[in-house]
Amino acid sequence: MNGQEHGGRRITVEIKHDGAAISYDVWVREGLIDDAGSLIAAACPAHRYAIVADTQVAGLYGDRVLSSLAGEGLQGTLLKFPAGEWNKNRESWSDLTDGMLKVGLGRDSAVIALGGGVAGDLGGFVAATFMRGVRLVQIPTTLLAMLDSSVGGKTGVDTSAGKNLVGAFHQPSLVLADPAVLKTLPAPQFNSGLAEAFKHGLILDVDYFESIAAGLDDLFNRKTDRLVDLIERSVEIKADVVARDERESGYRKILNFGHTIAHAQEAISGYAWLHGEAVAAGMVLEAAIGEAAGVTREGASRRIREALEAARLPVELDDEVDATRFFEVLEQDKKRAGGHVRYTLIGEIGRVAAAADGEWTHAVPEELVRSTLFD
Ligand SMILES: NC(=O)c1ccc[n+]([C@@H]2O[C@H](COP(=O)([O-])OP(=O)(O)OC[C@H]3O[C@@H](n4cnc5c(N)ncnc54)[C@H](O)[C@@H]3O)[C@@H](O)[C@H]2O)c1
Ligand SMILES: [Zn+2]
Repeated sequence: MNGQEHGGRRITVEIKHDGAAISYDVWVREGLIDDAGSLIAAACPAHRYAIVADTQVAGLYGDRVLSSLAGEGLQGTLLKFPAGEWNKNRESWSDLTDGMLKVGLGRDSAVIALGGGVAGDLGGFVAATFMRGVRLVQIPTTLLAMLDSSVGGKTGVDTSAGKNLVGAFHQPSLVLADPAVLKTLPAPQFNSGLAEAFKHGLILDVDYFESIAAGLDDLFNRKTDRLVDLIERSVEIKADVVARDERESGYRKILNFGHTIAHAQEAISGYAWLHGEAVAAGMVLEAAIGEAAGVTREGASRRIREALEAARLPVELDDEVDATRFFEVLEQDKKRAGGHVRYTLIGEIGRVAAAADGEWTHAVPEELVRSTLFD
């Protein structure tokens, strides 16, 4: 059940988890960060709360969440880790869990992941593993985290062999997205979030894709109404996909459109490329691969390139990515199965394409990828 709530929106995510039905609300409203305490008290009661945030976000919003908790008589402790994708690792996980043990948090505590996708994935993994699992609230503060990573329950850390290779599925009890905090988000980070919104349109909703492309100026100006609409539609699409397949045994793989190439670009750049930037280039190129494979309608790649360029996103791989390095990195990526790298492909803009074998990913011959990307 979704609805309008106090000028904002509420989307309910319903998932079958280990045979049981679970659900949680995603709230999208300006000012939520200062009302967090009461919503958390109702949806995720706990004895004490560990707020996991990177140093940057902790400085900007940590105190506001703490005082909102205190206003409800709730006790919170702020635990920080250094900002940056390269800190989404097991060292940060062990520092955070040690920090929680040190201040005496127990099984009856809950984690509040406050920040971008890095804090969400890392804080989520802490919640999944601390005392064999405690409850989790996501307070996303980047556009990417609001419209994508805070919903769906994937948590984890990167390793030197690749991204997200150690992790767990752990659904939050509540997600609070306050578009007002996006006013402090740097432009490259904001645009990076737009890439995932475009992706939701590209796989399932052509009208959504075109509406983002047509409304970029309002989005760049961070107009609250437009942001609320954007986050709501993306969360709806993601929630529908995850409801059908929580554990990525099939259908959920459609969310990986653009990501096979993106993960390679991110890794090769040493994470100098933002996730959404890499996804943008990845979507243009995976559409081109789809066209070359005869799966994707001709012209799709050109239209995607045009829209993403207008959104100030990269549409090509970095010069430092050569074929040898690229295929080496794919080797290590967990997307490789049975000797083939499989790609999520679209049939046309707004429609993901199932493969002939009924899978949601396509085994594309390496030669075809090589000639599309590197010749
Ligand atoms: N779990 C999932 O389903 C899922 C989906 C997509 C992406 N991800 C993951 O998300 C991560 C990327 O997330 P991200 O792009 O949000 O990066 P991020 O969490 O590193 O945040 C980007 C930067 O913005 C800063 N920041 C955050 N909010 C701010 C604000 N309101 N004002 C000012 N600065 C702010 C942070 O300190 C950080 O330096 C990747 O690790 C990716 O793998 C996960
Ligand atoms: Zn992504």
